[in-house]
Amino acid sequence: MLEFDIVPARRRPAEERAALLADPGFGRVFTDHMITIKFGEDGWHDARLIPFGPLSLSPATAALHYSQELFEGLKAYALPSGEIGLFRPEANARRLNATAERLAMPALPEELFLKAVWTLVEADRDWVPSGEGQSLYIRPFMIATDPFLGVRPSSEYLFAVIASPSGAYFSGGAKPVTVWISQDYSRAAPGGTGHVKAAANYAVSLRAQAQAQDAGCDQTVFLDAVEQRWIEESGSMNLFFVYENSHLVTPPLNGSILPGVTRDSVIRLARHNGWTVEERPYSVDEWRADAESGALRETFACGTGVVITAIGRARSRDGEFTIAGAAEGPVTASIRDTLVGIQRGRLEDPFGWSVRRP
Ligand code: COI
Repeated sequence: MLEFDIVPARRRPAEERAALLADPGFGRVFTDHMITIKFGEDGWHDARLIPFGPLSLSPATAALHYSQELFEGLKAYALPSGEIGLFRPEANARRLNATAERLAMPALPEELFLKAVWTLVEADRDWVPSGEGQSLYIRPFMIATDPFLGVRPSSEYLFAVIASPSGAYFSGGAKPVTVWISQDYSRAAPGGTGHVKAAANYAVSLRAQAQAQDAGCDQTVFLDAVEQRWIEESGSMNLFFVYENSHLVTPPLNGSILPGVTRDSVIRLARHNGWTVEERPYSVDEWRADAESGALRETFACGTGVVITAIGRARSRDGEFTIAGAAEGPVTASIRDTLVGIQRGRLEDPFGWSVRRP
C-alpha cells in the first residue's frame, strides 16, 4: 500500500471557516487540502496530501480533449459521538473501478481509494459541518494526463480527491421539485456509458437541464434513447414511484441508468421494512395516467447530493401533471428520515453502511 507524503496547507482561521460553514450551499466551498496520486508505467505512485489549489496541466492533456475522465461522489458526516462517518465508501470504490474499466482507465485498488478519502477527511475534519442537512461532500476523480492528441487510452493518469462542505443540493431546500421530461435530448444509449460515472454523461445532460430551467423546472427526467418512452433517470438522481401499500417501482439497471449508491440503499431499506420494490420498465404514459387517476401516491428522486427529494410536478412539451397534490408523501419522508438517520449516526444501522476510520 502506498504511503502518502503530507504537505500541510496553511489552514484558514476558525472564524473564516465558521463563516463559510454557516451556509455553504452545494459544491462552492472547498477544504484546505486535496489528495493526488499519479499513475504511469510503474502503476500508482506519488500519493500526496497537499494544499487545495490549481493543477498544472499541458493544454494537450488528453482528458481536456476526449473526456477520458470519471468521478465519484460520497459524503462524510459529523456523528453524535464526535467521530466522522462515511456512507458506504466501498460502494464508490467499486463503482469507480467499473467506470474506469468502461473508459479504458486503470483500476485503483479499493484500499487505496479508501485510504485517500480517509486521509483527506482526517486532515480536514474541522470542515465536516454538523448543521442539519449538512455534510462534507467528497469528490474523487480521475483524468487522463498524457499530453497527446491521438485518440487512444492515455498511459498516464491523475487520481485526485477534493472535499466540499455542503448543505442542501437544491437551493429551495427539501420542498418537492418540478421536473422536465426531456423529449429532445437523450442522456445515454444502449452500449454507451450511462451505467457508469463518466464525466461526459454530465456534459451531455446540460442542454436538457438548461431547457428544464427555462421551463421553470428544477431537474430533467430522461427517457430511453430508443423508444423515448421508458423513464430512465434524472441525470444526477434515480427515480422511484410509490403505489398503494408502500409498493415501489423503479426502472431496472438496463445498461444506461447509473447504479446509484442511494438507489441501492433505498431498495434495501424498503425491502428491510417489508415493502415491495419492483425493478421494471416504467413508461412516461403510465406515470402520467397513474398520477392523474390518483393510483400513484408519490414519486421521489434519490442521489448522493440530494439524498431523497419528492417530485411534486412533471412538465413536458405536452403539458403538466401533479403527483398527489405536489406534497411530500409519507413513504418518501419515512425513507428519507431513516436514511438520513443512519447516515448521521442517529438511528441503528442494521446494514453497516456508516463506517468509521478502520
Ligand atoms: C449524485 O448526487 O449522486 C450526483 O451525481 C450529483 C452530482 C453530480 C452533483
